[in-house]
Amino acid sequence: MMRSAVLGAVLLAAATSYYIYLPLPSAVAEPWKLMLLDAVFRAMMHVCNLAQDLGLAHNTRVLNYMVTLVEVRGPQSSESVRVTDTSFEGVQARVFESTLPGPRRLKRGVVYFHGGGWALGSGRMRSYDLLCRRMAEDLDAVIISVDYRLAPEVHFPEPYNDALRACRHILTAEVLALFSVDPERVAVSGDSAGGNLAAAVAQQLALDNSVSTKFKVQALIYPVLQALDFNTPSYQQNGNVPILYRPLMARFWLEYLNGDLKLVPSLLANNHTAVNQGQEAVVAAKAKMNWTNLLAPAFQKHYKPVAPCLGTPGLLEQLPGLLDVRAAPLLAEREVLKLVPPAYIMTCEHDVLRDDGLMYARRLEEAGVAVTSDHYAEGFHGCMVFGFWPARFTVGMQSMRNYIHWLQQNL
Ligand SMILES: *[C@@H]1O[C@H](CO)[C@@H](O)[C@H](O)[C@H]1NC(C)=O
Ligand SMILES: *[C@@H]1O[C@H](CO)[C@@H](O)[C@H](O)[C@H]1NC(C)=O
Repeated sequence: MMRSAVLGAVLLAAATSYYIYLPLPSAVAEPWKLMLLDAVFRAMMHVCNLAQDLGLAHNTRVLNYMVTLVEVRGPQSSESVRVTDTSFEGVQARVFESTLPGPRRLKRGVVYFHGGGWALGSGRMRSYDLLCRRMAEDLDAVIISVDYRLAPEVHFPEPYNDALRACRHILTAEVLALFSVDPERVAVSGDSAGGNLAAAVAQQLALDNSVSTKFKVQALIYPVLQALDFNTPSYQQNGNVPILYRPLMARFWLEYLNGDLKLVPSLLANNHTAVNQGQEAVVAAKAKMNWTNLLAPAFQKHYKPVAPCLGTPGLLEQLPGLLDVRAAPLLAEREVLKLVPPAYIMTCEHDVLRDDGLMYARRLEEAGVAVTSDHYAEGFHGCMVFGFWPARFTVGMQSMRNYIHWLQQNL
């Protein structure tokens, strides 16, 4: 009896550690914590896939339901931050207003877009709630965390349109006055897919002469900026690093652009950009994100470009969003980039999206825009917002401090 209990325990431990254990690059921060976090994500994914296989629901919906159940909080004000849920032109948002005592004056404002592959998460989740509270306090600011609609309910360009509509409305004199926000000190910011929306909206509003209040700065945290090359050095290097695996990012793109998820392998092979498809547009777009020119050799390492000659015909016609700057802000013309606000771009070494951010930083600099690049050699995708135990990473907390510090200095 005793013996079989011991045997059972050993087997269980072995199975668990097999499930949790994952070879990680030695330089990644706090690898055991990351493995644990990853195991939780994978377990949730398995449950979701099972639910989908049983015909119960779309797996992204199940995942979002679980995340929401565990993570979403009500709007709880504290002594120093008033929190309210509201909407701007029909787009849901949570507003965090600093209520620090002192002379009544205009405050800084930040419009924030949460990450989650345009499919997961909410500005009402604990991790984003904590981030925005802290920003409101430390910056004595009003933070507006926008809940754009998500895939699979809606697809591109709807989430982008939600983001743009909310920003236009927030930037009106009436709304700024309502929240006592200084029109000269409003930032747009976001992480991951939210960084994509922030960059895309910053470009569009810079071009739009009908909007008189402009963003002062943009702050992009490990942003997603392109879907033409799934073989940048960072995609090649970090394809198996949690939590944003390479096929998962391709899948998020396909869900966003309303494509068939069976196309993941074609995208990963860069088959959508084969030159035989001939369109000038592809050649021009690829030239704008030529990493052999845009990345420092230390980031290129030994990796080679992947440019198939034949590819899969018709992919770009099926997925026109791949070439649309509103989905892929890295593809914007230099004339547009010249107009966007000064940028803070945070990147992590152990992240498939590292080079999206690095290339954008370089293109903005070439267009004459002031850029602060903040790179974390130990960082991995998502590290900044996992602010709760056991997923609180030293590198993540450090990056959050630096991000807020940059806003203190520049907003
Ligand atoms: C990228 O730049 C290199 C060096 O300037 C050039 O040889 C190559 O053809 C370019 N590739 C693309 C896709 O534009
Ligand atoms: C990509 O295109 C090549 C032809 O260039 C083809 O042989 C290969 O099967 C395609 N891969 C996928 C995953 O579609």
